[in-house]
Amino acid sequence: MTPDELKLLIRTVPDFPNAGIQFRDITTLIGNGRGLAATVQMLAEAAQAAGAAGIAGMEARGFIFGAAVAVQLELPFIPIRKPGKLPIATIGVDYALEYGSDRLEIDPDAIEEGDNVVIVDDLIATGGTAEAAAKLLRMAGANVEQSLFVIDLPDLGGARLLEDNGVSVFSIMQFE
Ligand code: PRP
Ligand code: ADE
Repeated sequence: MTPDELKLLIRTVPDFPNAGIQFRDITTLIGNGRGLAATVQMLAEAAQAAGAAGIAGMEARGFIFGAAVAVQLELPFIPIRKPGKLPIATIGVDYALEYGSDRLEIDPDAIEEGDNVVIVDDLIATGGTAEAAAKLLRMAGANVEQSLFVIDLPDLGGARLLEDNGVSVFSIMQFE
Protein backbone atom coordinates (compact mmCIF):
# COMPACT_ATOMS: atom_id res chain seq x y z
CA MET A 1 0.00 0.00 0.00
CA THR A 2 1.15 3.56 -0.70
CA PRO A 3 1.31 6.42 1.84
CA ASP A 4 -1.71 8.00 0.08
CA GLU A 5 -3.68 4.76 0.51
CA LEU A 6 -2.66 4.55 4.18
CA LYS A 7 -3.78 8.15 4.68
CA LEU A 8 -7.29 7.16 3.60
CA LEU A 9 -7.36 4.74 6.57
CA ILE A 10 -6.98 7.57 9.14
CA ARG A 11 -10.24 8.75 10.72
CA THR A 12 -10.52 12.46 11.46
CA VAL A 13 -12.68 13.37 14.46
CA PRO A 14 -13.42 17.08 14.88
CA ASP A 15 -13.34 18.70 18.34
CA PHE A 16 -11.69 15.78 20.19
CA PRO A 17 -10.54 15.91 22.93
CA ASN A 18 -11.11 19.70 22.92
CA ALA A 19 -12.97 22.16 20.69
CA GLY A 20 -10.92 23.14 17.66
CA ILE A 21 -8.72 20.00 17.59
CA GLN A 22 -8.93 17.81 14.48
CA PHE A 23 -8.09 14.44 16.00
CA ARG A 24 -6.26 12.15 13.55
CA ASP A 25 -7.28 8.70 14.76
CA ILE A 26 -5.07 5.69 13.97
CA THR A 27 -7.65 3.18 15.28
CA THR A 28 -9.01 2.75 11.75
CA LEU A 29 -5.50 2.30 10.30
CA ILE A 30 -4.45 -0.41 12.76
CA GLY A 31 -7.86 -2.03 12.31
CA ASN A 32 -6.82 -2.80 8.73
CA GLY A 33 -4.32 -5.70 8.73
CA ARG A 34 -2.68 -4.81 5.41
CA GLY A 35 -2.55 -1.17 6.41
CA LEU A 36 -0.92 -1.97 9.74
CA ALA A 37 1.65 -4.26 8.10
CA ALA A 38 2.53 -1.71 5.41
CA THR A 39 2.88 1.05 8.01
CA VAL A 40 5.19 -1.05 10.20
CA GLN A 41 7.24 -2.08 7.14
CA MET A 42 7.81 1.57 6.13
CA LEU A 43 8.82 2.54 9.66
CA ALA A 44 11.11 -0.50 9.97
CA GLU A 45 12.88 0.34 6.70
CA ALA A 46 13.50 3.88 7.93
CA ALA A 47 14.77 2.62 11.31
CA GLN A 48 17.12 0.19 9.60
CA ALA A 49 18.42 2.93 7.27
CA ALA A 50 19.15 5.03 10.36
CA GLY A 51 21.23 2.22 11.87
CA ALA A 52 18.98 1.69 14.88
CA ALA A 53 20.39 -0.38 17.75
CA GLY A 54 17.17 0.07 19.75
CA ILE A 55 13.63 1.40 19.29
CA ALA A 56 11.95 3.69 21.82
CA GLY A 57 8.18 4.22 21.77
CA MET A 58 5.99 6.57 23.80
CA GLU A 59 2.99 5.35 25.80
CA ALA A 60 0.43 4.59 24.58
CA ARG A 61 0.11 4.88 20.81
CA GLY A 62 3.88 4.78 20.30
CA PHE A 63 3.93 1.30 21.85
CA ILE A 64 1.78 -0.08 19.02
CA PHE A 65 4.13 0.94 16.22
CA GLY A 66 7.42 1.01 18.16
CA ALA A 67 7.13 -2.54 19.47
CA ALA A 68 6.10 -3.83 16.03
CA VAL A 69 9.15 -2.18 14.42
CA ALA A 70 11.43 -3.60 17.13
CA VAL A 71 10.05 -7.11 16.53
CA GLN A 72 10.45 -6.78 12.76
CA LEU A 73 14.12 -5.76 13.13
CA GLU A 74 14.80 -8.03 16.14
CA LEU A 75 15.91 -4.99 18.17
CA PRO A 76 15.31 -4.12 21.83
CA PHE A 77 12.24 -2.01 22.60
CA ILE A 78 12.51 0.78 25.20
CA PRO A 79 9.13 1.85 26.63
CA ILE A 80 8.88 5.57 27.41
CA ARG A 81 6.15 5.66 30.02
CA LYS A 82 3.61 8.03 31.53
CA PRO A 83 4.39 8.87 35.19
CA GLY A 84 4.12 6.40 38.06
CA LYS A 85 3.99 3.25 35.92
CA LEU A 86 7.52 1.89 36.22
CA PRO A 87 8.30 -0.05 39.43
CA ILE A 88 11.87 1.24 39.77
CA ALA A 89 13.62 4.59 40.25
CA THR A 90 13.08 6.47 36.99
CA ILE A 91 14.30 9.62 35.31
CA GLY A 92 11.57 11.91 33.97
CA VAL A 93 10.84 15.02 31.90
CA ASP A 94 7.70 17.23 31.97
CA TYR A 95 6.33 18.55 28.67
CA ALA A 96 3.42 20.46 27.07
CA LEU A 97 0.86 18.88 24.70
CA GLU A 98 -1.41 20.34 22.00
CA TYR A 99 -4.15 19.78 24.60
CA GLY A 100 -2.61 19.80 28.09
CA SER A 101 0.62 18.72 29.75
CA ASP A 102 2.17 15.45 30.86
CA ARG A 103 5.36 13.73 31.97
CA LEU A 104 7.45 10.90 30.51
CA GLU A 105 9.68 8.50 32.42
CA ILE A 106 12.13 5.73 31.57
CA ASP A 107 14.22 3.12 33.29
CA PRO A 108 17.72 4.68 33.10
CA ASP A 109 19.26 1.19 32.91
CA ALA A 110 17.33 0.34 29.73
CA ILE A 111 20.04 1.96 27.59
CA GLU A 112 23.73 1.24 27.06
CA GLU A 113 25.90 4.37 26.84
CA GLY A 114 26.16 5.48 23.18
CA ASP A 115 23.37 3.21 21.86
CA ASN A 116 21.80 4.55 18.66
CA VAL A 117 18.12 4.71 19.68
CA VAL A 118 15.39 5.61 17.16
CA ILE A 119 12.14 7.15 18.45
CA VAL A 120 8.83 5.84 17.06
CA ASP A 121 5.38 7.35 17.67
CA ASP A 122 2.06 7.50 15.85
CA LEU A 123 1.98 11.27 15.42
CA ILE A 124 4.00 14.45 15.85
CA ALA A 125 2.07 17.66 16.52
CA THR A 126 3.87 20.33 18.60
CA GLY A 127 6.80 17.96 19.07
CA GLY A 128 6.65 18.36 22.85
CA THR A 129 6.34 14.60 23.45
CA ALA A 130 9.12 13.63 21.05
CA GLU A 131 11.41 16.40 22.30
CA ALA A 132 10.89 15.17 25.88
CA ALA A 133 11.56 11.59 24.75
CA ALA A 134 14.80 12.60 23.03
CA LYS A 135 15.90 14.53 26.12
CA LEU A 136 15.17 11.55 28.38
CA LEU A 137 16.94 9.07 26.14
CA ARG A 138 19.96 11.34 25.95
CA MET A 139 19.95 11.73 29.76
CA ALA A 140 20.13 7.93 29.92
CA GLY A 141 23.16 7.92 27.59
CA ALA A 142 21.54 7.19 24.20
CA ASN A 143 22.58 8.67 20.89
CA VAL A 144 19.33 10.05 19.38
CA GLU A 145 19.46 11.21 15.76
CA GLN A 146 16.30 9.84 14.12
CA SER A 147 12.59 9.85 14.89
CA LEU A 148 9.80 8.13 12.93
CA PHE A 149 6.10 8.96 12.85
CA VAL A 150 3.10 7.65 11.00
CA ILE A 151 1.57 11.16 10.91
CA ASP A 152 3.07 14.66 10.93
CA LEU A 153 0.98 17.78 11.51
CA PRO A 154 3.48 20.23 9.95
CA ASP A 155 1.48 23.36 10.81
CA LEU A 156 2.19 22.71 14.51
CA GLY A 157 5.96 22.89 14.01
CA GLY A 158 6.98 19.70 15.81
CA ALA A 159 9.26 18.40 13.07
CA ARG A 160 11.11 21.74 12.98
CA LEU A 161 11.52 21.68 16.77
CA LEU A 162 13.03 18.19 16.66
CA GLU A 163 15.37 19.02 13.76
CA ASP A 164 16.52 22.07 15.78
CA ASN A 165 17.37 19.60 18.57
CA GLY A 166 19.47 17.47 16.20
CA VAL A 167 16.84 14.78 15.60
CA SER A 168 15.85 14.00 11.99
CA VAL A 169 12.15 13.40 11.34
CA PHE A 170 10.59 10.84 8.97
CA SER A 171 6.81 10.64 8.56
CA ILE A 172 4.67 8.50 6.29
CA MET A 173 1.89 11.05 5.84
CA GLN A 174 1.08 14.65 6.65
CA PHE A 175 -2.17 16.46 7.49
CA GLU A 176 -2.20 20.26 7.00
C1 PRP B 1 -0.34 11.88 21.39
C2 PRP B 1 0.45 11.18 20.29
C3 PRP B 1 1.85 11.70 20.51
C4 PRP B 1 1.63 13.11 21.02
C5 PRP B 1 1.90 14.11 19.95
O1 PRP B 1 -0.20 11.18 22.56
O2 PRP B 1 0.36 9.77 20.40
O3 PRP B 1 2.57 10.94 21.48
O4 PRP B 1 0.25 13.18 21.44
O5 PRP B 1 1.71 15.43 20.39
P1 PRP B 1 2.88 16.51 20.50
O6 PRP B 1 3.76 16.39 19.29
O7 PRP B 1 2.16 17.83 20.54
O8 PRP B 1 3.63 16.26 21.76
P2 PRP B 1 -1.08 11.43 23.88
O9 PRP B 1 -0.25 12.20 24.86
O10 PRP B 1 -2.41 12.00 23.50
O11 PRP B 1 -1.20 9.99 24.53
P3 PRP B 1 -1.70 8.54 24.08
O12 PRP B 1 -0.65 7.97 23.15
O13 PRP B 1 -1.72 7.82 25.40
O14 PRP B 1 -3.05 8.64 23.43
N1 ADE C 1 -1.86 14.18 19.48
C1 ADE C 1 -1.63 15.51 19.51
N2 ADE C 1 -2.40 16.15 18.61
C2 ADE C 1 -3.15 15.17 18.00
C3 ADE C 1 -4.12 15.20 16.97
N3 ADE C 1 -4.50 16.34 16.39
N4 ADE C 1 -4.67 14.02 16.59
C4 ADE C 1 -4.30 12.86 17.18
N5 ADE C 1 -3.39 12.79 18.14
C5 ADE C 1 -2.81 13.93 18.56
